[in-house]
This record gives sequence, structure tokens and C-alpha cells, in this order.
Amino acid sequence: MLSTSALASLAAFLAVANAAPALAPRDGTIASQCTNVKLSQNWLVGDCLTGVGTTRITSGTSLNSKISNDDGALTWALDGWFSQLCDSCQLLDGGSSLNCQCPPSSGQNKNTTIDLDEHISVYSGHLLSDLNGTPVVPVIPSIYDFPSDVSYGYGGNATCVEGSANPDWCGSVVPLCSDGDKTDFNETAFTYTTPITSCLAPSFYLPYEFQFDHLKLAGAAAWELTGYADAECTEKVIVLTPDDSGKCNLLPELVRGVTSRPLFNGDVF
Ligand SMILES: *[C@@H]1O[C@H](CO)[C@@H](O)[C@H](O)[C@H]1NC(C)=O
Ligand SMILES: *[C@@H]1O[C@H](CO)[C@@H](O)[C@H](O)[C@H]1NC(C)=O
Ligand SMILES: *[C@@H]1O[C@H](CO)[C@@H](O)[C@H](O)[C@H]1NC(C)=O
Repeated sequence: MLSTSALASLAAFLAVANAAPALAPRDGTIASQCTNVKLSQNWLVGDCLTGVGTTRITSGTSLNSKISNDDGALTWALDGWFSQLCDSCQLLDGGSSLNCQCPPSSGQNKNTTIDLDEHISVYSGHLLSDLNGTPVVPVIPSIYDFPSDVSYGYGGNATCVEGSANPDWCGSVVPLCSDGDKTDFNETAFTYTTPITSCLAPSFYLPYEFQFDHLKLAGAAAWELTGYADAECTEKVIVLTPDDSGKCNLLPELVRGVTSRPLFNGDVF
């Protein structure tokens, strides 16, 4: 039985622990806190001050996950994928703005600039965004370096889900997998540079959904891929980590849905 004072200090501790995310230290603008700020595969990457002396960590945030082209203007939008249509993108103002040439619904490309400081800040050295709510600041930096290439792929032996007109079609358009090199994408037909934050039921060209009996993750970057038995991602089947990269993993159950997140210092959406 805990004493009243022990309960009181436990309650105080829990209150602080629960409040911690809301008290996320927003240290300042990108340009004032970060050096070597660059646009890499449409991620904003920089070496930013942690708040402890002059220590910096390298981190990044996926701009395609946050910015869209709205009629020729760069605009904040979750999963906006601005880079699909905009080109000649560059950072201005020390990395605090993104400038691109983007097509409006009709007519010539427009020269458009968005102020990244509106939704991206440095939190204890991490470039994070509040676009999807207050960001969760990692307690310690990742053990994985920020990759020079953030690409990752997944794939494997598959059939189309039960009830498809031609169940073998899915397996015929993606290669079977085998154990191989971590960075070999030949057997991973689905390639990404952004996190898969909402459950994805893989499909290719046609609306036939895949179900995998083997699953492979590939890429030099440290990503975690989770496979689920259902297309809503409620029943977890397997979690693949960088240690599993390059392996063709036999699944205990068919996988129909996937999510992924970076294990390096990368924003999770
Ligand atoms: C677009 O506008 C930016 C910011 O004003 C400027 O630096 C850039 O040179 C312009 N680009 C073009 C192609 O006009
Ligand atoms: C799927 O992958 C395994 C392991 O690489 C392989 O041995 C097997 O033959 C494949 N399954 C099918 C149906 O081809
Ligand atoms: C992957 O595909 C490329 C291009 O087709 C080929 O050159 C390479 O040898 C393949 N890698 C492996 C490990 O099979």
C-alpha cells in the first residue's frame, strides 16, 4: 500500500510525464538553429543545435508528407506530394523557405515560396513539424545516422487477395524474393522515400490488393516496416527492422497491410 505522500509524488510525476510532450522545447527558427541545411530527396535536412552547448545532431523531415501544390502555390497539406508536379525546388533564407516552380490548374508555372518556419521547428536538435499536432520529441537521438539516401523498398512473394478475378496476377507483376544484399531493390517492387503513416494496402496498376506470404525490406537507410494481416492494419504479423533488410522473410500469416517509420532522426509523418 502506498502512503499518501508517495501517491502524491507519483501523481506529480505522472502529471509531469504526461505534460512533457506539450512542453516540447521549440528552440527557434530553422535558419537560426541549423547549419548545412539542404533539400535531399525532398526531405529538409540540417545539423541543428540540441540546446546543450554547441552540440548538433543531423535530422530531417519529409516535405512531401507536409506540402502540396494548390493551384500553383506551395501549401501545407498532409501527404501533399508537392514534388510530383513542382520543379526547380530550392531552399532560400538559410533553409527557412522552400521555393519551387509549380503548375496552376491552367497556364504557366508559378514561382512560389512557402515559409517553412510556420510548421517546422527545431526541438532539442530535431527538425519536427506541428502540422499533425504537437510533435513527440525523441528522448535520445537515434543510433542510426541520417542516411545519404532515404529510399527503401518492400516486396515479396504475393498473390491477389481472395476473391480477385485472377489471384495469380499480383505475383506475376512483382518478383519473388530471395535473401540478398540490403541495398538491392530488384526484388522490392514498392519503393518509397516517405513514411507510410496511414495503413496502406499495396496494389499495382489495377485495384487488386496484394497479400504476401514472404516479405522483404531493402535499402541502406534505417526503416522499420510493419506488416498486418488485414488491410486496416489492426492485426500485426511482422515487424521488419534494418537487421532484417535484404532477407526474404517467411510470414506466419499472409500480410495485406503495411506501415513504416524511419528509425534515423526523421520526422514520423
Ligand atoms: C522566384 O522567387 C524567388 C524569391 O523571390 C527568387 O529568389 C527566385 O530567383 C525566383 N525564381 C525565378 C525563376 O524567377
Ligand atoms: C517464395 O520465396 C521463397 C523464399 O525465397 C521461395 O523458396 C519460394 O519458392 C517462393 N514461393 C513461391 C510460391 O514461389
Ligand atoms: C539488380 O538489377 C540490376 C539491373 O537489372 C542488375 O544490374 C543487378 O545485377 C541486379 N542485382 C542483383 C543482386 O541481382
